Amino acid sequence: MTEKDFIPKEYSAEIEEGKVTWQSPSNIALVKYWGKKENQVPANPSISFTLDSCRTTTTLSFQKKENAEGFDFELFFEGEKKESFRPKIQKFFERIEVYLPFLKEYRFKVETSNSFPHSSGIASSASGMSALALCLMSLEKQLDPEMNSEYFTRKASFLARLGSGSACRSIEGGLVNWGEHQNIPGTSDLYGIKYSHEVHENFRNYQDTILLVDKGEKQVSSTLGHDLMNGHPYAERRFQQAHENLDLLKGIFESGDLSEFIKVVESEALTLHAMMMTSQPYFLLMKPNTLEIINKVFDFRARTGMHLCFTLDAGANVHLLYPEKEKKETLEFIKSEMLQFCENGQYIADNVGSGAKQLA
Ligand code: PMV
Repeated sequence: MTEKDFIPKEYSAEIEEGKVTWQSPSNIALVKYWGKKENQVPANPSISFTLDSCRTTTTLSFQKKENAEGFDFELFFEGEKKESFRPKIQKFFERIEVYLPFLKEYRFKVETSNSFPHSSGIASSASGMSALALCLMSLEKQLDPEMNSEYFTRKASFLARLGSGSACRSIEGGLVNWGEHQNIPGTSDLYGIKYSHEVHENFRNYQDTILLVDKGEKQVSSTLGHDLMNGHPYAERRFQQAHENLDLLKGIFESGDLSEFIKVVESEALTLHAMMMTSQPYFLLMKPNTLEIINKVFDFRARTGMHLCFTLDAGANVHLLYPEKEKKETLEFIKSEMLQFCENGQYIADNVGSGAKQLA
């Protein structure tokens, strides 16, 4: 599908007012998206596990206005009016208006809340933007009742991407690809698709325990971060490596080889941070406790032969990934030896989830 396919023809129904609620999860990338071209087109393909417990719930109320001049919306976060979100949503609406031409015809109220602790350093843009995109799609579906569910899902992902790139991987569950890859048919730079090749049972209900090392505000916004890849001395090789790592993962998902899985996933995390450390300006986002945790992961693996591994986002928090069948021992180890490195001992026990859900 191309961008043009997401521009609607005339709507067949008229809707005066209504209210919808969606719950949408966060996701954790195994092959990282870092660097983008214009219009939120990723510089390289990525793949992520959709999470379950880390999610945003958004209710969108809408009411037809008398005129269609300008966007009209109010934002509430956890019950309180949130003016600071306004510029982001205004920009999002401007970007998607061509695909949702009704946006200026309604007055919107957006009420949102997160399941994870406020300012935990957990990126809420993926769950937040995907939840809002889904709510808007529910309104579009009311205006166009013939719309099929495949188009609904694709377009929700397409719109979410225009809000925050990685948000396009939060609509569906399991493993989700985003970004064109020659050996994974159906992949697109415009939206995420559920990974449809064989996946070994070792990866079923994979666990992700998120250690909250640093709950502070992000030092590097993702917009700035992606920009750092423009003119980066290692950019081209890195983008190529992401394609290669996706090829490797394809084989690994089939064979269930957890040792090979770990090699790709940990290397991706460290490469993401290496890119930040070698850009101009440069950033060091890992904290001493991030490294303590990583070293503990290495020790635990060497000692037990189990398959605990880590990955990182653009921050100091650590995602600990491990197979469900090693859950008991691994979680015990995490609780007894790793929580000392977390701010106030805080962590989130999550696992792979089944994607976004409509609640009302
Ligand atoms: O979706 P953004 O623009 O916030 O970028 C997210 C980038 C990483 O989280 C670092 C990697 C990824 O693929 O999710």
